[in-house]
Amino acid sequence: MAVLEQNPLLEGLELARTPEPCALVIFGASGDLTRRKLFPAIYSLAYRQLLPARFAVVGVARTEWSDDEFRDDMESAVREFARDEFRQDVWDTLAPGVRYVSTEFDSPEGADRLSACLTELDEERGTRGNRVYYLAVPPDVFRLLVRQIGEQRAAEGWTRLIVEKPFGYDLTTARELNQGLHGHFAEDEIFRIDHYLGKETVQNVLALRFANGIFEPIWNRQFIDHVQITVGESLGVERRAGFYEQAGAIRDIFQNHLLQLLAVTAMEPPIDFTAESVRNEKVKVLRAMHTPGPKHIVRGQYGRGFVDGEDVPAYRDEEGVAPDSMTETYVAAKLFLDNWRWADTPFYVRTGKRLPRRETTVAIQFQRAPHPPFAEIAGEGLRPNVLIVHIQPNEGVSLEIGAKVPGHGMQIRTVHMDFLYGGAFRTGLPEAYERLILDAMLGDATLFTRSDEIEEQWAIVDPIVAAWRRDRPVFPNYASGSWGPKEANDLLERDGRAWRTH
Ligand code: BG6
Repeated sequence: MAVLEQNPLLEGLELARTPEPCALVIFGASGDLTRRKLFPAIYSLAYRQLLPARFAVVGVARTEWSDDEFRDDMESAVREFARDEFRQDVWDTLAPGVRYVSTEFDSPEGADRLSACLTELDEERGTRGNRVYYLAVPPDVFRLLVRQIGEQRAAEGWTRLIVEKPFGYDLTTARELNQGLHGHFAEDEIFRIDHYLGKETVQNVLALRFANGIFEPIWNRQFIDHVQITVGESLGVERRAGFYEQAGAIRDIFQNHLLQLLAVTAMEPPIDFTAESVRNEKVKVLRAMHTPGPKHIVRGQYGRGFVDGEDVPAYRDEEGVAPDSMTETYVAAKLFLDNWRWADTPFYVRTGKRLPRRETTVAIQFQRAPHPPFAEIAGEGLRPNVLIVHIQPNEGVSLEIGAKVPGHGMQIRTVHMDFLYGGAFRTGLPEAYERLILDAMLGDATLFTRSDEIEEQWAIVDPIVAAWRRDRPVFPNYASGSWGPKEANDLLERDGRAWRTH
């Protein structure tokens, strides 16, 4: 709390809403996500006193742990991964409400033990039958759990479900999952996570567009030449080959994070910031998007190379990856939206693993000045204005403008006008999961994906994947540490444009 209280720039910015008493049940609690993201997020919420006073967390997984063993493991996870320093007094507010139930997910006996544990917590901790279930489990156990939770709803209190990605494998499976969910839960009780929507900077795209009078009038095909969205990662597949071999970049990032970034960039202003208004507008963007033809989409797979000066293996040599794997680790596409605002304005998007650095940006490139009356242009020439939203790292916004070089004559060079989060608010940004867990407890689904939205996303992806099945590109086709395959550069060069590299 000290940090918040001492920072005058944060005055008046604290959250007024506190969730009602509740228990958070995490299925898949022994997994990496719980250690790296969920518990550190819960701790940071406790650190800022944003959790309800009457609160409990129950971890559920197969690993045989006692309550104490789970608590100890979570404490070490918090020490290792939380963005805040470890404070014993904060941990002591959380720890007594932390329980663990070891069970196979399909065991009725385990379900009964969980239910008994929750009833006990209602009495001990005053959680009043309110539950948030976090499903961080593989898709095969998902349906079963949904049914189990649906059938065991407490007589009192509310029940909400947070559902991790991947949400389905294609449109058919996503529809099946939605049907399964809707058999037991209303749409406003379901919170499908796309953690990119929890990132401050993604929400800032909305703030930038709709809290300022100057951008919206020029945010359209008349003033914007094109948009570039990059979700770049320097990491490789790590230890997730089992999942990634089936998913590839198209299902792992393009279907969800990339399309969400595009939707918030391109959507019409919502009439208010409620879940339905915001999501209605995003769905319209997805409906307006047509599936790119084969010439407008490029896939790649990384070969051996150097990232951060380190020699890294090719994707096919990673542990758990088939030596002839055809899974793509890179996708680039040129997308169009069929609506009045964006007709004929290309959205170039790309995502890849083992790129030179971790960098996610949305760059809005405006039309060139129609007639610059200056003869002397310095350096690379007078470039068009670009508004860049730095989603991560170095979170902020910068505007590239032409400025006069000091001295005699009238030389122009491109310079940056920068807003950096760190500088303006002097505070660390909350992790996406903090915001999302808190919002689910508050029942606010604005930053979660609605069922029709997710189905629209798959409707865009399915034909791309189907077309890919018809041919076998030569993989690997880009070296680790490069910005992707040559064909991805051609995609823009054909249009007289180029990817941004900084
Ligand atoms: C996850 C993907 O959804 O997002 C990962 O499954 C990816 O493959 C990760 O690394 C990227 O998230 P972030 O927040 O680090 O950009």
